Amino acid sequence: MSEKAGGGVAAKVVAWQAAHGRNHLPWQQTRDPYRVWLSEIMLQQTQVVTVLGYYDRFLQRFPDVKALAQAEQDEVMGLWSGLGYYSRARNLHQCAKVVTAQYGGAFPDTAQLLATLPGIGRSTAGAIAAFCFSERVAILDANVRRVLTRVLGFDADLAVAQNEKLLWDRATELLPTGDLQASMPRYTQGLMDLGATVCTPKAPRCPACPLSSVCTALSQGNQERYPVKTRQLRRRAETWWLLILLDPARRVWLQRRPAAGIWAGMHCVPVFSDQAQLMQVAADSEGGAARVRMWEVPALMHVLTHRDLYLHAVVVQGDLAARPLPHGDWFGEHQWTGIGLPAPIRKLLDSAVQRPIL
Ligand code: ADE
Repeated sequence: MSEKAGGGVAAKVVAWQAAHGRNHLPWQQTRDPYRVWLSEIMLQQTQVVTVLGYYDRFLQRFPDVKALAQAEQDEVMGLWSGLGYYSRARNLHQCAKVVTAQYGGAFPDTAQLLATLPGIGRSTAGAIAAFCFSERVAILDANVRRVLTRVLGFDADLAVAQNEKLLWDRATELLPTGDLQASMPRYTQGLMDLGATVCTPKAPRCPACPLSSVCTALSQGNQERYPVKTRQLRRRAETWWLLILLDPARRVWLQRRPAAGIWAGMHCVPVFSDQAQLMQVAADSEGGAARVRMWEVPALMHVLTHRDLYLHAVVVQGDLAARPLPHGDWFGEHQWTGIGLPAPIRKLLDSAVQRPIL
């Protein structure tokens, strides 16, 4: 960094946030740890515009942590459906139970204790503690990591745990030192806002940045080189074959997914890893009966963190009561629209049931 002793980074970020940051988001109007925690979990890997509606609906149904702890898992998954990364919802529910059972429904008030709870990593714990309790503690999510590595010219490989730890130490050194009550929430939000709106991965808007005068990457003209991280995740493509069974009452046949892996614990139509297997079971279900039809719906591509899933679906529709079916249960339309279904499965079901019933 081009100035010594932090170069007044904290003061610049705090002043910029007050004038140019985001200050009207619903989770900024409270210091209630339940609401802030919920927003931070929803905002991991999900954009603000998407989160807004989910956040309101979730709070309407579960106004406090005890209400969430008492809910059925399926209802929690149902309210999460469409946000993706469903392990977040399972951890959220688990965390609510722990806070209720072990802390009497009051979230612990330090980042260190918060980070012991399910689904709360070091950065999320820091954000909650800074926003709600003004604790002097750093955050380092992907956006903030980009801002700080650029400002500091921190070019050590973050795939190495030791370097990641060093960056946490540098982030901690840069924190505000005065009037923590007001400055910690604002500084924390300011770093997030800078990462989201100015210090973007491609073509950062450096002329609008309060840190441009102290930014090492800008002075070197190599902003997009940061952050440095080798060992990128290798993406894989996978094809799934889905069997959508519909009965004359428009019920669909759903199974619960295994407890680990993609969409763990959620409901889903039966999945096969190859087409031949799917067609065997589909043909058994169809059984040549006159009032049973079979058709394919257009394939969907669904992007997961480490995988691109190509989803092919065959629909078998008709009176299947006497047919051999894989394990599972029938779910009426009002049931499957309310439980946790992965977004692409919901989409496929929507298009399947729109066909006229025989
Ligand atoms: N992303 C993560 N936390 C956020 C927050 N508090 N406001 C806006 N975006 C965020």
